[in-house]
Amino acid sequence: MCGIVGIVGHHPVSDRLIDALKRLEYRGYDSAGVATIDGGALHRRRCEGKLFNLEAKLKEQPLAGTIGIAHTRWATHGAPTERNAHPHFSDGIAVVHNGIIENFTELKDELTAAGAEFQTDTDTEVIAHLVARLRRDGMGRREAMHAMLKRVRGAYSLALLFEEDPSTIMAARNGPPLAIGHGSGEMFLGSDAIALAPLTNEITYLIDGDWAVIDKTGVRIFDIDGEVTTRPRQISLVTAPMIDKGNYRHFMEKEIYDQPEAISDTLSHYINFSDNKVVAVWRDTVFANVQSLAISACGTAYFAGLIGKYWFEHYARLPVEIDVASEFRYREIPFSPQVAALFISQSGETADTLACLRYCKEHGLKTGAVVNAPESTIARESDTVFPIFAGPEIGVASTKAFTCQLAVLAALAVAAGRARGTLTEKEEQTLVGRLAEVPRVMGQVLNSIRPRIELLSRELAKCRAVLYLGRGTSFPLAMEGALKLKEISYIHAQGYAAGELKHGPIALIDENMPVVVIAPHDRFFDKTVSNMQEVAARGGRIILITDEKGASALKLDTMQTIVLPNVDEIIAPMIFSLPIQLLAYHTAVFAGTDVDQPRNLAKSVTVE
Ligand code: F6R
Repeated sequence: MCGIVGIVGHHPVSDRLIDALKRLEYRGYDSAGVATIDGGALHRRRCEGKLFNLEAKLKEQPLAGTIGIAHTRWATHGAPTERNAHPHFSDGIAVVHNGIIENFTELKDELTAAGAEFQTDTDTEVIAHLVARLRRDGMGRREAMHAMLKRVRGAYSLALLFEEDPSTIMAARNGPPLAIGHGSGEMFLGSDAIALAPLTNEITYLIDGDWAVIDKTGVRIFDIDGEVTTRPRQISLVTAPMIDKGNYRHFMEKEIYDQPEAISDTLSHYINFSDNKVVAVWRDTVFANVQSLAISACGTAYFAGLIGKYWFEHYARLPVEIDVASEFRYREIPFSPQVAALFISQSGETADTLACLRYCKEHGLKTGAVVNAPESTIARESDTVFPIFAGPEIGVASTKAFTCQLAVLAALAVAAGRARGTLTEKEEQTLVGRLAEVPRVMGQVLNSIRPRIELLSRELAKCRAVLYLGRGTSFPLAMEGALKLKEISYIHAQGYAAGELKHGPIALIDENMPVVVIAPHDRFFDKTVSNMQEVAARGGRIILITDEKGASALKLDTMQTIVLPNVDEIIAPMIFSLPIQLLAYHTAVFAGTDVDQPRNLAKSVTVE
C-alpha cells in the first residue's frame, strides 16, 4: 500500500514529485524516496519516516532532472529504514513498487547465485536485479521489462527508470491501481488521480496485466502478451483535496466535526425530501427480487456493514451474509443467482474487498459498492456505485466516512423494505423523516459533549485496556469504538456483544478495567443493564453512553455517563458514533500519539 509517482517532461521534476507524494501519504508514511536522471546518471534521495524528512534532505541536497520517480512506503518486507526505502537501484535501473512480490525468495536466491548483491531486505529489489540481469543477457529494455513481468508473481504497480534512456519511464500494473496522466509535452503516472490532480485531469487507468512505456509525448500500452493495446483516456473529476485543518488541531478532529454537513450532503443524494422517499437504483431492480445480500468489507467499513445487516434484516426481512473481506471469499459461500453482493470501502482500493468484488462477479452476482472515492477500482468495477459523499478523509482513522456509509446503508435498507413490501409508504416516510434529523442532532451532540469526553479521556489515556459492550446495532458500534481507540491511542481495546461478557471476558473485570457501554434506550436496554450490573458487581468502572430515557431509567453508579438526546433506533448508530469517536480522539491526544498518522497504518490497504 505504498504510493508511487513519476514525471517525464521538460521542467525539473523533483519538487513536483514530492508535492504529488504528499497527496499519496495516506497510502503509507514509513519512508520516502525519489530518483531522477540528470547528466546521464541516476541520483536518489531517501529518508526514513515521513515525507517532511525527505523534503528537508532535498533542501540540503537538491535533485535536478526532468524525469523522475518517487515513492512513499508502507513497509511489507523489511524494516522501515532508509536502506529499505525505494527507489531501489541495480546497474543503472531504478524501481519503485506498490504491492508484494510473492515469489521474491525464489528470485532472490536465483539472482544471488548469479552474482547479484542485494542491498535491502525488500521484495522489490528483485525487480531491479532481474531487469538488470535480463539486460546483461542481451535483451532490449522493453523486452527485459516484459520478461521480468512474466517472472514475478504477486501484486504490483511499478515504475522503472533506465539510466541509459533519460526520456522514458516504464510502468506496470497487476493489482494496485496505476493512473497515467497526460500533460502537454509532459506525462505523469501515479497511484491515483488525486496525486496527479494539480498536474492533469486527463487520465488513462491501466488494467491488471497492462504495462506501459511513457515518454514526454505520450504512452504506449501493452497487454500481458506484449501486444499493443489501448485504454480509454478520460477526464477525471477528482480534485486535489484541500489539505487544510482549519482551526482544528488534527484532520481527525475536523472530520468528526464535519459530519453534520457530510451526512446532509450524503442524504440529499438518496432522499427525495419533497415526498420523504428514498431514491435508490436498486430499489425495484434488485431489492425486490433477491433472496439475500452478501456484504464484505474491512475494518471500520466492515462494522458499518454489520450495522447494515441489522437494518436490512429488520426493515426489509432481507437475510445478509457478512464477513471481513479477507475471510469472505475463502468461506466458499454457496451463492445462488438470487444473491446480490454489496461492498463497502472508503478508499475503493482495499485489496481484500476488491478481491471479493471480483470473486462475486465471477460467480455471476449482481454487485454494488458503497464507496467514497468515485473513481476508485472498486467503484469502476462494480455494477452499481452508491457514493457516500463524505469528501476527502485525511485522518487515517475513519470517522465521517463511517457515518456516511451508515447513512447510505440506512437509506438502502429502507428502500429494500419498501421494495419487498415489509415497510408501508407511511413507514418509509417516517423513517426518512428520522434520517433527515441526523445532521441537526449531530450538531447538537457535537456542541455539548466535548467537556465531559475530555475529562474522561484524560483518565482513559492512563489505562492499559478498555472493554466496549453493546447489543443490537450497538454491538458493531462497540467494536468500532474499540478499533478507533486502539488504532490511534495504542491502548488495547476490545468490543464485545454485551451478552457475551459472561462467556469469558468477564474474567478481565476489576477496578482497573474501564468498560464503555453503548446503550440507547432501545428494545435491548434492559438486557444491557443486566450486563452492566455484572460489571458493577465485580468493581468494573462503567462509562455509559446512553440517551435521556436511558439515563433516567438507570439506577446504577457509573464512572461517567454521557447522555445523548433520545433518537429513533434507525439513527442511533450515527449519533452514538460521535462520543466513541471523540473519546478515542481525545484519549489519543492525551496519550500524545500521532493522531492523524498512527504508527504502522495506512489509509488505503492495497495488499492482501
Ligand atoms: C479504521 C479504518 C480501517 C478501514 C479499512 C478499510 O479507522 O479506517 O479499518 O476502514 O482499512 O478501508 P476502506 O474503507 O478504504 O476499504
